[in-house]
Amino acid sequence: MCGIVGYTGINQVLPKLLKGLEKLEYRGYDSAGVYVNNGVNEDFLVREQGRVSMLELATKNKGISGTAGIAHTRWATHGGVSVKNAHPHMSSDGRFYLVHNGVIENYDVLRDTYLKDIKLNSETDTEIAVQLIDKFAKEEELSAVDAFRKMISLLDENSAYGFLLMDRQTPGLLYTAKKKSPLLIGVAEEGNVVTSDAAAMLDVTNDFIELMDGETAIISKDKVSLFDEHGVEIVREPFTINIDASETDKGVYPYYMLKEVDEQAVVARTLSQHYFDEEGHIKNIDSQITEAIKKADRIYIVAAGTSYHAGLVGKRYFEQWTGIPTEVHIASEFAYDQPLLSNKPFFIFLSQSGETADSREVLDNIVKQGYPSLTIANVMNSTLTREADFALPILAGPEIAVASTKAYTAQVIVEAILAYAVGDADIDLKHELARVAVEMQVIIDQKEVFNDIAKTALHNRHSAFYIGRGLDAAVAVEAALKLKEISYVQTEGFAAGELKHGTISLIEEGTPVFALLTQEKTAGLVRGEIAQVAARGAKTIVLASESIAKENDDYILPNVNELLMPLLAVIPAQLIAYYATLDRGLDVDRPRNLAKSVTVQ
Ligand code: G6P
Repeated sequence: MCGIVGYTGINQVLPKLLKGLEKLEYRGYDSAGVYVNNGVNEDFLVREQGRVSMLELATKNKGISGTAGIAHTRWATHGGVSVKNAHPHMSSDGRFYLVHNGVIENYDVLRDTYLKDIKLNSETDTEIAVQLIDKFAKEEELSAVDAFRKMISLLDENSAYGFLLMDRQTPGLLYTAKKKSPLLIGVAEEGNVVTSDAAAMLDVTNDFIELMDGETAIISKDKVSLFDEHGVEIVREPFTINIDASETDKGVYPYYMLKEVDEQAVVARTLSQHYFDEEGHIKNIDSQITEAIKKADRIYIVAAGTSYHAGLVGKRYFEQWTGIPTEVHIASEFAYDQPLLSNKPFFIFLSQSGETADSREVLDNIVKQGYPSLTIANVMNSTLTREADFALPILAGPEIAVASTKAYTAQVIVEAILAYAVGDADIDLKHELARVAVEMQVIIDQKEVFNDIAKTALHNRHSAFYIGRGLDAAVAVEAALKLKEISYVQTEGFAAGELKHGTISLIEEGTPVFALLTQEKTAGLVRGEIAQVAARGAKTIVLASESIAKENDDYILPNVNELLMPLLAVIPAQLIAYYATLDRGLDVDRPRNLAKSVTVQ
């Protein structure tokens, strides 16, 4: 977790760092900090609890000037949320400044072995690292980079880090190293940058050099020196990231989430164009991928959060269109309780960020066991895409709001396309997806309906339910997650038939129960379940597809192929969550305690 950004160049660094941090807030936002060195013996360390906007205020009128600096936005792991635990952390004598993304597992052993005499100022594992660097530099007269490397050599093998270090004695230089946490070095005419996500520095450059696990780098305004894990200098060419900086801006929207919900129809069309040729034949899926899946006797989809929910929908496509049994697993469970596998498993990792630590742990394990794998992700060049045998993009464009929306629908679409490519579905998927895109837009254009529903059903409510059967049950869990994670209304997504086996006791007068009704076969049964909760006082809100809808239903979803209905049914849920959150006066994009990219286990 946590976001890192650094710059050394010819321009003023503070505005660049603050702008970069804003783009990185999705990685955590409980505190933020910045260190700037002006190269002539004056430096500035400012840290604040809360959002980057608080840090920005705190840096005003301080006369901060300088062309090299590092900054960080935090999601607390070791040590509570406070200014003293915010990064950058400083060594006792004020020589070294360090920001860190990751976890040092043996930090307490290191502290007790090496730092008994040092008064620590925070509860973080990161401070241990910077104090160690200082100690080795001083006591063993090591250069900054050697002291940095010595500290790294003491970290146990489970530790993860993206480090960015500055030394007061070498003011224009940035020192960086990584293992398991992503870091990129950006190169430009005006200077060089280090960042945990390219999106944060696209205003400076689109050209980045990837730093690999175990490597270190020393960066000045006009030079990048890269070293392998033995300290031997290596050369690596930059690659270009084709994202426009404006894609990561909110534009005219009040919140990223609304922008991202709105983009779903466009993403659906982009995916169709990318994966189908004019005649509706699949392109851009290597036959090696389809062949590898065909050889499998079972598909294992592994993911976390919303991506896991996209997997629950995708399972249906793989089973129905390829005939290969498919299981969907929560990554953090699979990682430490691996189920008995079939003889020829094929693994599909679903991930927006491509960096989720829980999923990476599973991928690590299954690579060691020699099983084939594919990652379907939004961020290509991420760890999960690099380390799997194959990767496919979902082409959703940057998703910034913590609540995932367009990445979900894009993942579902790519799963459908992949299953279609492997198997023999009896439909024209290109044509069906074109209809989906049109109908997505119809729903999106009716936002006000969902604003009304959210206000009437959820105002002052503390709990709610989403129910459905089959694919609607899969959407119900995602719908519930959307609502609870941003509005804090405790919401359960439920297989409608299961409600009566216990949970129905929670229904009280006025409890909102949203029913999703898009599957013909079970529509009658779900109608029965709606009646059962209504009879016990629930406020039912029925979202039904046109062919199933009845007169008094609350919203009628346009009809598309029934298997693709999740792509439409989820949109009202996203918008209801959005408006319920606005109604409560909460920050839609940055719900409390969460981060978008969860790079710790
Ligand atoms: C976090 C985010 C979720 C996301 C999950 C998995 O918890 O808040 O929105 O679904 O991580 O992330 P991934 O990047 O692997 O899809």
